[in-house]
Amino acid sequence: MTEKAGGLIAWIDERFPLTRLWNDHLAKYYAPKNFNLWYFFGSLALLVLVMQIVTGIFLTMHYKPDAALAFASVEYIMRDVEWGWLIRYMHSTGASAFFIIIYLHMFRGLMYGSFKKPRELLWLIGMFIYLTLMAEAFMGYLLPWGQMSYWGAQVIINLFGAIPYIGPDLAVWIRGDYVVSDATLNRFFAFHVIALPLVLVGLVFVHIMALHEVGSNNPDGIDIKADKNADGNPRDGVPFHPYYTVKDTVGAVVFLLLFTVVVFYVPEMGGYFLEHNNFIEANPLLTPEHISPLWYFTPFYTVLRAIPDPWYGVLAMTAAILILFFLPWIDRNPVRSVRYRSFLYKLNLAFFVIAFVYLGYLGTLSVNPLRTEMAVRFSELYFLFFFVLWVYSKRRSAVFYTGWFAALVGLITLYDYLRGYDEIWPLIMPGWLIPAIYLAIHLLLPMVERLGSDKAVPARVRM
Ligand code: HEM
Repeated sequence: MTEKAGGLIAWIDERFPLTRLWNDHLAKYYAPKNFNLWYFFGSLALLVLVMQIVTGIFLTMHYKPDAALAFASVEYIMRDVEWGWLIRYMHSTGASAFFIIIYLHMFRGLMYGSFKKPRELLWLIGMFIYLTLMAEAFMGYLLPWGQMSYWGAQVIINLFGAIPYIGPDLAVWIRGDYVVSDATLNRFFAFHVIALPLVLVGLVFVHIMALHEVGSNNPDGIDIKADKNADGNPRDGVPFHPYYTVKDTVGAVVFLLLFTVVVFYVPEMGGYFLEHNNFIEANPLLTPEHISPLWYFTPFYTVLRAIPDPWYGVLAMTAAILILFFLPWIDRNPVRSVRYRSFLYKLNLAFFVIAFVYLGYLGTLSVNPLRTEMAVRFSELYFLFFFVLWVYSKRRSAVFYTGWFAALVGLITLYDYLRGYDEIWPLIMPGWLIPAIYLAIHLLLPMVERLGSDKAVPARVRM
């Protein structure tokens, strides 16, 4: 460093802890040396957050939050504003990219047990970020004032109307009107552009603070702070800077390459990132034939649609999201990483991914009896994943396994009996096999020692 620059830094350090922050959070912050690809997604989420804020600022310069002008102002951005199409496609693609990254980031947490002690709070803050992100995306989607913006918002806000007693008033309060209207657009604009981004940035700051307090987990789930060298630094750690700043830059470049391909060549992604119906201006008098939210909400939307009663549907959908908050207390097994968990645990995780993706796919389709039956079965698998996770928290007796197997199969059969009617029995009966086989695998096979036992966790991380 030149003498002048050194002098400037010393001047700043006397007034602001610049060097201390740099050292505490980068140059002398030790991170496990065995990070793999899955550890890219935190920094990528940060990158996309910044990108969304910056492109959002430029969109706001030309967008009009007025039901009579909004749709045309987006068309104006796309056609007349210099580079407006690029900024808009970056923002719309950025929204989907954000959710892809966040789902992978959360899945990494699941795989490596990153939600377990001492990172419970880090996980909870993450879940609050996820909820805020959902609200941010939902409100942003109303702004282009297309058919899907309008009718999607109508359907989702009507869900609040299903809450007993307070529901109808609550829905009016959220909309600011009896139907989705200019008042709704204005308040969603205020939340999307300022309130929620502020909350998001604040939560992300707290998320990183919590992370740096406890330190990162790693693919082996081993606590690197437990084994330090003579200097007091973890033997299995490396300073975040330069090692991971360089590595994360590679991740960012690869991500930006893929992102650019989507923005330039397939910004609509076949209707998954920008729905075709949303290129038609909102028309309160014309309901589209098939209304579905964007792909990142569809797994939960399918859980909602699996139950005919709207109130129970809303309860199930809310439970499907909220159950994720409780993961640190559901899975109490001290072995963190999937690498050292039993074969059956790995299988359970694989089933969960399949169930989540399939529920998401079903949510993009219109309903028919077969799809509704599959929605019920895969929603059952979704919830059973958490139950099995709790069961695998420790070794259980044979009576425990068989008792729960009988109880759950009985409960599912009872529910099928209650919801069944003549036309759908031929679907219910083979469908019943899906949760029954799943439960047989996860509650009866653990009694085979080889399949149900975790492996020994090594003392040092593997490279
Ligand atoms: C805007 C959204 C988010 C940003 C910017 C963000 C950022 C980060 C960063 C930079 C890291 C450290 C690098 C890494 O481990 O990848 C991290 C770690 C972590 N994040 Fe997030 N995150 C976000 C959302 C979430 C969500 C939604 C969850 C879970 C519900 C979550 C849970 C975690 C956990 C458990 C860790 C520690 C992982 C480990 O050490 O193995 N984060 N996050």
